[in-house]
Amino acid sequence: MAGRVRVAVLISGRGSNMTALVEAARDPDYPAEIALVLANVPDAAGLRTAAAAGIPTVAIDHHPFGRDREAHERAIDAALAEAGIGLVCLAGYMRILTPWLTTRWQGRMLNIHPSLLPAFPGLHTHERALAAGVRLHGCTVHLVTEVMDQGPILGQAAIAVRADETAGALAERVLAQEHVLYPAALARHLGRAALPWSDRSLIVV
Ligand code: GAR
Repeated sequence: MAGRVRVAVLISGRGSNMTALVEAARDPDYPAEIALVLANVPDAAGLRTAAAAGIPTVAIDHHPFGRDREAHERAIDAALAEAGIGLVCLAGYMRILTPWLTTRWQGRMLNIHPSLLPAFPGLHTHERALAAGVRLHGCTVHLVTEVMDQGPILGQAAIAVRADETAGALAERVLAQEHVLYPAALARHLGRAALPWSDRSLIVV
């Protein structure tokens, strides 16, 4: 497809959502190409996976910047500009962003979060979902704003929580949904495809 949007995926670790986006973008009709994978952790496993898939990678360690988050973000922003990036997907990027970067990329930065927002922003979402006794849990793709895990929702995938399910098992089942949701929500955000779910209600008793 001509004029595919050049996307950078920002990661901090494993990068399985990044891989899902890379695989979706292998389809020439997919509206985005993954043009860069950037990590704030130099030995993030996802960097090696991306490099093996032939994707340009860059590591910008946050440690040398100390407490100056904005200086770190300026370095990231420069790398994004250098790669001609049009849209950023956060995928397990575990640094809180300052308004400097989120404002600059407003409407052009997506995040995936492992809960049905606005429930359970922040960390340990699966443990907290189990402790709260929710019957439905899942994941959300949303636009990034200044407030962490609070931007406009672009898509969600829900699953029923199983009786006596462990947080690890729940995390694994939600992650499988993330890998379907993120490529679909990104494509829909770019105006090219519908989400693959029906609009039937999901009732869990
Ligand atoms: C994913 O579950 C993602 O939703 C979560 O981290 C994991 C990264 O896995 N993100 C957050 O918790 C953001 N606050 P991955 O590196 O294999 O994609």
